[in-house]
Amino acid sequence: MNSHFEKHILCIGAGYVGGPTMAMIAHKCPQYRVTIVDINPERIALWNSDHLPIYEPGLDEIIHSARGRNLFFSTDIEKGIQESEIIFVSVNTPTKTFGVGAGMAADLQYWEKTARQILKSAKSDKIIVEKSTLPVRTARAMERILFSENNGVHFEVLSNPEFLAEGTAIRDMESPDRVLVGSRQTEKGLKARQQLVDIYANWVPRERILTTDIWSSELSKLVANAFLAQRISSINAIAALCEKTEADVSQVARAVGMDARIGSRFLYASVGFGGSCFKKDILNLVYICRHYGLDEVADYWQSVVNINEYQKEHFVITMLNAMFNTLAGKRICLFGFAFKADTGDTRESPAIYIAQRLMEERAELVITDPEALTNAKADLKLSDGDNVRFVEDPYEAASGSHAIAIITEWRQYRELDYERIFRSMVKPAFVFDGRNIADHRRLFETGFNVYPIGKPALTHL
Ligand code: UDX
Ligand code: ADP
Repeated sequence: MNSHFEKHILCIGAGYVGGPTMAMIAHKCPQYRVTIVDINPERIALWNSDHLPIYEPGLDEIIHSARGRNLFFSTDIEKGIQESEIIFVSVNTPTKTFGVGAGMAADLQYWEKTARQILKSAKSDKIIVEKSTLPVRTARAMERILFSENNGVHFEVLSNPEFLAEGTAIRDMESPDRVLVGSRQTEKGLKARQQLVDIYANWVPRERILTTDIWSSELSKLVANAFLAQRISSINAIAALCEKTEADVSQVARAVGMDARIGSRFLYASVGFGGSCFKKDILNLVYICRHYGLDEVADYWQSVVNINEYQKEHFVITMLNAMFNTLAGKRICLFGFAFKADTGDTRESPAIYIAQRLMEERAELVITDPEALTNAKADLKLSDGDNVRFVEDPYEAASGSHAIAIITEWRQYRELDYERIFRSMVKPAFVFDGRNIADHRRLFETGFNVYPIGKPALTHL
């Protein structure tokens, strides 16, 4: 193919991972042509429009600078495969919902379809890069499919897990803590690995590009997420103890986190972690451990997920107890539905569980969120009798409510005029701060009964 580009890079899967990652490569490396394909034509149309399918701070700017220049979105997967030397695969790998491993194992059907499509369409050698989070040893399965036909084409599979967090994806990719590239230790494997390293070396300092064998790379992704989630479950478990003992979990986290061996990040007690990765990846890890007969190890990691489920229920029970053991007919306003701030993503958001439980208690719900209301509506699958409203403006949402539950740590929710909100609410008015972001003392002085996570409640009752 005639082209003035140095390399032709393809990404299969235009989601939360593929979109931002490829946009960054195209932005940093104008000498490469980067194409992103997806089976979903609506998604591709959105990527080509002024309304990108995902909200991510800073993403609009880099898409606009690169799109049409060296960044292209398309549905022609076959052509994309034929024209590229390097193919990133970032299709979805959700938790299986059926059959063996349902609820635990990764569902690799989209993954396998992609591998078969690559095999069918490829006419020249390709480097295949695993970008989605996968169970350790998936590269072997991928190789088995790719090598199943002897058509003279060589495929080299690399693992290059994604460590970006939503909401800070652009910043995370611009200056990553590390980029991890795993390969086979063969001559061809090492050569392919170097090609991928060269791409990142356009903007990432060489000492931050870590190269390993392929199994370590695959496993490291699961382990990094398991460790991060474990810290949140650890501090959340301690938060429950703080509530019983009048200790303050923020002060405990500060005192503990100042130990350099522990570190201060990811110690914010919350309503529980959400997002597309943590639960899925830990369950996947648990499943793999069971597969190898490591039941105690599996139980250990399973408990990280169990504490997270407990944390969501604990939040609901705190609300129920505080509001005189009945929520029936009371109007409760959820501040935030996204799984964290700065994203419209609601996958595994604690808000889903909490909203459903509050509905079971027959509360009336008003949900507000600056970016996630469309997803929230889809998640709750409401029927006609359900008493749930979605309101963009937080003042309007809170008006007439008995309680506010802060679920997402949106900056806006720190800065609201809570005196105005208090005046518009039913008394006694409650705030349940599932993120410890509000000024609790001030809310209390305004007249609210305030229930933080892991600190003594401030009440007038
Ligand atoms: C995570 C990993 O951070 C990232 O490296 C990986 O590639 C994908 O999974 P993400 O799911 O986007 O990223 O969000 P993250 O910032 O890790 O937060 C996950 C959840 O934990 C959120 O619900 C967040 O609100 C919660 N959290 C985080 C806490 O409750 N307390 C904390 O201290 C930190
Ligand atoms: P992630 O958060 O891992 O990026 P997403 O669900 O946001 O997950 O994105 C995965 C994308 O992969 C979706 O847009 C989906 O349509 C796409 N996809 C799934 N299977 C295929 C396939 N066989 N070929 C091309 N794209 C696919």
